[in-house]
Formats: sequence, structure tokens, C-alpha cells
Amino acid sequence: MANNKTFTMIKPDAFADGHTGAILKMIEEAGFKIKAIKTVKLSAEDAGKFYAVHSARPFYGELCAYMSKGPIVAAILEKDNAVADFRTLIGATNPADAAEGTIRKLFAKSLEANAVHGSDSDENAAIEGSFYFSELEKI
Ligand code: TYD
Repeated sequence: MANNKTFTMIKPDAFADGHTGAILKMIEEAGFKIKAIKTVKLSAEDAGKFYAVHSARPFYGELCAYMSKGPIVAAILEKDNAVADFRTLIGATNPADAAEGTIRKLFAKSLEANAVHGSDSDENAAIEGSFYFSELEKI
């Protein structure tokens, strides 16, 4: 994946509370093209693999339990400068620190239930997209 793609997840609370449509609308209106998308339910083991990079952090166990508590939406997005622009669109990790108008400011409930994931590098965007999507599904 070159620097024009990123990967996102709409997390369990945002999905369960019916914010998927509004979040996808914000994403498209910000100029991102949806290149792949699906709804999935992770097991705690799946979540552990996805977040393996955080395995030494104190919140890892709770994060994996949280991300497997209900369905999520996974998507690959395309735009120039995708990783950085998407992190601007979603706002700070902790919604208390997120800028007005960002997805997390609007839809996050807490630091853990912070509505959406956004890759933090081009390398991780490629790895994370491949966690969910086969080559056939990457249009
Ligand atoms: P992180 O990669 O630091 O943030 P981001 O998602 O903005 O790249 O953390 C991954 C997720 O872990 C984060 O979205 C929410 C959760 N998390 C906690 O539950 N507690 C914490 O103290 C932190 C830093 C993150």
C-alpha cells in the first residue's frame, strides 16, 4: 500500500448505537474513497492478533475484550496523504482531547469506546488492511 491508503474500524459502541451511516458520510465527504468494507465480529483471540503491537501495554486485555464485544465495520480507505488526513478527521485518541467536529469528538463515549480506529503509518495500514481483506477484495 502506498501513502494513499489507510485502514479504519467503526468500533462496537459506534456500530451498535447506529452511527455507522453518519461516520461513513463524514469519511466520504472528507474525500476518502471506500476501497473495501465489511461488517465482522472479532473473537477476543482475533482482537489480540490485530492489536498484538499493544500487547505490552496495560490496557491490552481490556481493549481486546472491548473490540470483541460486538460487530464492527472494517474498511480500507483511499485518499492522498490518507494516514495523516484520516487521523486529523478522527481526532485525538482520548475524546476529551479531540478537536471539535472530529469523528471521535462527535461519536466517542470514552477513551476505550472511541468510535473509530485509524492506522498510524502506511506500513500498519497495509498490515491492518490485509488482516481483514484478501487480495481479491482489495479493488
Ligand atoms: P493507540 O494506538 O494509542 O491510539 P489510536 O487508536 O489513536 O492510534 O491505542 C489503541 C486503542 O487503545 C485506542 O484507540 C483506545 C485504546 N486505549 C485504551 O483503551 N486506553 C489507553 O490508555 C489508550 C492509550 C488507548
